[in-house]
Amino acid sequence: MDIAVVGTGYVGLVTGTCFADLGNTVTCIDNNSDKLAVLNKGQSPFYEPGLSERMTRSIRAGRLQFSADSDAAVMQASVVFIAVGTPPLPSGEADLSAVFAVADSILSYIQRHKKTLGFRVLVTKSTVPVGTGQQLMAKRDALGLSDDEVAIVSNPEFLREGTAIHDFFHPDRIVLGSSSEAGLDLVAQLYHPLYRRETPIVRTSIQTSELSKYAANAFLATKISFINEMANVCERTGADVADISKIMGLDGRIGRYFLHPGPGYGGSCFPKDTQALVQLAEKLDYSLEVVKAVEAVNDRQKAQVIPQLIQALGDDLTGKTIAILGLAFKPNTDDIREASSLVIITELLKRGARVQAVDPEVKRVPLFEGVAAFSIKESAYAAANQADALVLVTEWNAYRELNLTKIISCMRLPFFFDLRNVYTPTALKQAGFFAYVIGRSNTISEFETTSQSD
Ligand code: UGA
Repeated sequence: MDIAVVGTGYVGLVTGTCFADLGNTVTCIDNNSDKLAVLNKGQSPFYEPGLSERMTRSIRAGRLQFSADSDAAVMQASVVFIAVGTPPLPSGEADLSAVFAVADSILSYIQRHKKTLGFRVLVTKSTVPVGTGQQLMAKRDALGLSDDEVAIVSNPEFLREGTAIHDFFHPDRIVLGSSSEAGLDLVAQLYHPLYRRETPIVRTSIQTSELSKYAANAFLATKISFINEMANVCERTGADVADISKIMGLDGRIGRYFLHPGPGYGGSCFPKDTQALVQLAEKLDYSLEVVKAVEAVNDRQKAQVIPQLIQALGDDLTGKTIAILGLAFKPNTDDIREASSLVIITELLKRGARVQAVDPEVKRVPLFEGVAAFSIKESAYAAANQADALVLVTEWNAYRELNLTKIISCMRLPFFFDLRNVYTPTALKQAGFFAYVIGRSNTISEFETTSQSD
């Protein structure tokens, strides 16, 4: 099938590339000419394992192209995906101006050429608040176009950064929402190769489809904030959050995923989508108490390590050097949007500390550019050099098998803060560290006793 994808951000580029991989002819549209030049060479503007290889393969096979000409693409394509950004407005609501601008231009092109064009389907892939599809239908109707000429379909995206290609080909479900059976049929056909792997395709109303994406993300965020609170209770009671997660997860009704405690969730989705959902409900005169609490817990969790560091190093962090392992909001991505590392580093710099950070993919942080007390090192060992404490923020594989003896020998003081449960308290203790392992063990206060008795 011939398809067009408008917007070459995360969702658009992955979707377009994977549909091309399945044998479709895909044109990805973007209005940024510098970006188009990079894309046409098969290079992804962001780090996503496996993406560039697939782009190159499909470009060479003539199945994937990048262009600024949306009219030409819409002329060819029977299905047009809108995958532009929906960033938060200052109020927290999703900014839909890009979605509407793209939809207006496509719909008016179709209206001008409706005699020659056949049936077209306009699909929203971007995460859009419930009601957006109905607004698009109203725009279509206002142009005198019918459901038989242009169907509006909602098809939310559930893929995760870092595992996006795998998620595209192995989705838990495909959600399609529309009032047009023909529209649903055509988009379902595109996903047919995945259906053979028994992927359930859920056909529903456009409102349900739109809301399902927010519901899923808000629920996953709820699981994370819940386990983070349990970790905080574990720390105060001597219970072990790793075992709590395991025990809870073994209950099929709960499920074992998204029960890893950490320094709060980040990224471009959970923070934005929980906020937008709260705002949407607020506008409808409904207060979403659970989701509001999830956000509040997450905000608190991000800077949770600061009091722990103060316990280790004293109230005054001026001149102390802190090693930060991991800047990305999670492993296998170079994305630092809403990353907990930024909150932790900002607070440390405010308190006069020096920060030596390292990340396998993030090589610059615009927020700290020009800040003398902040530097990015080439390795975990270089980051730990002369550090008073080390904080493991993102659980990259590269930090899972550190030579702890080498790390401790680089450092000035033996404090290790593991915010992702990568190391066991025993392993850290054996290496000589006084450690805080989230929700499991905290031997920081033993340092003073030990050093006094030395
Ligand atoms: C999330 C959803 O998982 C996807 O299904 C969805 O399509 C996507 O948002 C989106 O709306 O576009 P993503 O933001 O890529 O995907 O990342 P996740 O893997 O969900 O992680 C989000 C954050 O939660 C990260 O900071 C991660 O470290 C944190 N997290 C995740 C935990 O702290 N604990 C966990 O158990 C899981």
